[in-house]
Amino acid sequence: MKGVILAGGLGTRLYPLTHATNKHLLPVFDKPMIFYPIQTLVKAGIKDIMVVVSGPHAGHFIRVLKNGKELGVSHLEYAYQEKPDGGIADALALAEDFADGGPITVILGDNTTDADISKPVKEFKEGAVVFLKKVPDPERFGVPRFDEKNPKKIVEIIEKPKNPPSSYAVTGVYIYDNKVFDYIRQCKPSWRGELEITDVNNFYIKAGKLTWAELEGYWWDAGTFETLLYANIYWAKQKGGEKVVRNITKILEL
Ligand code: DAU
Repeated sequence: MKGVILAGGLGTRLYPLTHATNKHLLPVFDKPMIFYPIQTLVKAGIKDIMVVVSGPHAGHFIRVLKNGKELGVSHLEYAYQEKPDGGIADALALAEDFADGGPITVILGDNTTDADISKPVKEFKEGAVVFLKKVPDPERFGVPRFDEKNPKKIVEIIEKPKNPPSSYAVTGVYIYDNKVFDYIRQCKPSWRGELEITDVNNFYIKAGKLTWAELEGYWWDAGTFETLLYANIYWAKQKGGEKVVRNITKILEL
């Protein structure tokens, strides 16, 4: 299995932080954000990785990640997304040659998690696997609608629904077989002008080839000021332990 990290986009939700560098290189406690999805892949035994980059600061990635060896990556490749906000599916299309006919595990560059995905990666055979997480604000994400008769079956995923049909977010962690690239070719730009990964997932649902698992442990995207702060606090707590928690609590009480 190969891995793909999508780190394109302009990070406009984080302006002015992202004027000077790319969102995925901003700090999350003691590491640049992109280290986290890379570690999730490496922990799952995936060491052959492509990072898709874009925008004015694309060159910064090489300075930070170099050839990936320091992170346990055995082969690191970069692709450049010409239209930086062409959408997640547009970015993923660039990994077709890299995938070389095989399956891929994909993680969005602003998603950080401590989940261990080795088992689903090892057991993957065909189709697509999406990972769900219960969240308080599903309207910010892709949200699954489950079959009324069979609550384990997803019948549709809706991107940023005004009235979410469930309280689950489709996280930015996916496993796909090589059919994903055919589906991307069939996608049309959405209302936000992007090729949506949700449309790709809906193709798999229509074909009866999408399964899901709940992502165990911590997961959050770090794409807004608030969630970037949460990610920093979570990982600081993981690394710094009780002392950090005590200090954060003290500061919040000031
Ligand atoms: O975080 C999970 C959510 O990510 C999912 O629930 C949604 O279904 C999915 O559409 C996505 O939603 P966002 O609106 O939060 O995606 P965002 O535009 O923030 O992009 C997430 C990452 O994808 C970003 O950190 C880098 C990569 N990306 C994004 C775009 C638009 C690219 O590589 N190229 C792009 O053109």
